[in-house]
Amino acid sequence: MAGRPEGVGSAAATSLGLCGAGASRAATPSVAFGDISPARGEIASTFVIAAETAADDPAREALLDRAMGPKRRKKSSEKLRRGRRPSEGLAFVARGASGAVAGTVRLWDVVLGEGGRAALLLGPLAVDPTIKNAGIGSALMRHAIAEAARLGHAAILLVGDAPYYERFGFSAEKTGSLAMPGPYERHRLLALELVEGALAGAQGTLKAAGRKLKAQRLPLAA
Ligand SMILES: CC(C)(COP(=O)(O)OP(=O)(O)OC[C@H]1O[C@@H](n2cnc3c(N)ncnc32)[C@H](O)[C@@H]1OP(=O)(O)O)[C@@H](O)C(=O)NCCC(=O)NCCS
Repeated sequence: MAGRPEGVGSAAATSLGLCGAGASRAATPSVAFGDISPARGEIASTFVIAAETAADDPAREALLDRAMGPKRRKKSSEKLRRGRRPSEGLAFVARGASGAVAGTVRLWDVVLGEGGRAALLLGPLAVDPTIKNAGIGSALMRHAIAEAARLGHAAILLVGDAPYYERFGFSAEKTGSLAMPGPYERHRLLALELVEGALAGAQGTLKAAGRKLKAQRLPLAA
């Protein structure tokens, strides 16, 4: 693995503390964490990173609206996600002790240029705005990267702030000949090689390659 970033390597579910991977998966209504104000570590210790389930969809979407606002659906990354399912086994949530969704990250299958090599696009990553800076985003990132590596993926790309993502090993060093399918800021297109050399010579516009969402069945007219 090329320049394995700190914290990468464990394939096991990432527990941030008290509740294990088998934490409640019951209904996940959005809850306010605003009344939690202990030190960072204490907050983080009450969350666990787990695989997302279908029941998490409404809470995840509500969280993304709160964290990123309505413009989130206009991002060029969204073009690579729309109508697709996340890469197999690569959608995660951070859950509080009650089972509520406090953070989300998903990864998507893409190809680098027409007929190009396979890679993952990470995003969105978001944490409930009332519990930012408690380590939940970092835990989600480390778990997602470790699982992507364990599943044999070669590289992860994302569009985001380098000052945040470089701590996980991402940089714009290998993305100069790659492009998003829509407006984006070039310096924010970042990548992490999970296999050394995976991005050498990669060029072209990213294209969606994920499993398609099944068309929703309409009820038959009576
Ligand atoms: C970005 C985000 C996921 C980080 O999650 P988090 O749980 O708050 O972050 P962590 O606790 O893991 O890390 C906190 C550290 O990251 C830093 N950080 C957070 N966002 C940052 C950013 N955009 N640029 C640089 N540093 C950032 C904090 O200053 C803090 O630094 P410190 O450890 O030196 O004090 C979260 O703030 C969020 O959901 N933001 C809104 C949605 C968003 O912007 N998503 C990313 C799209 S690029």
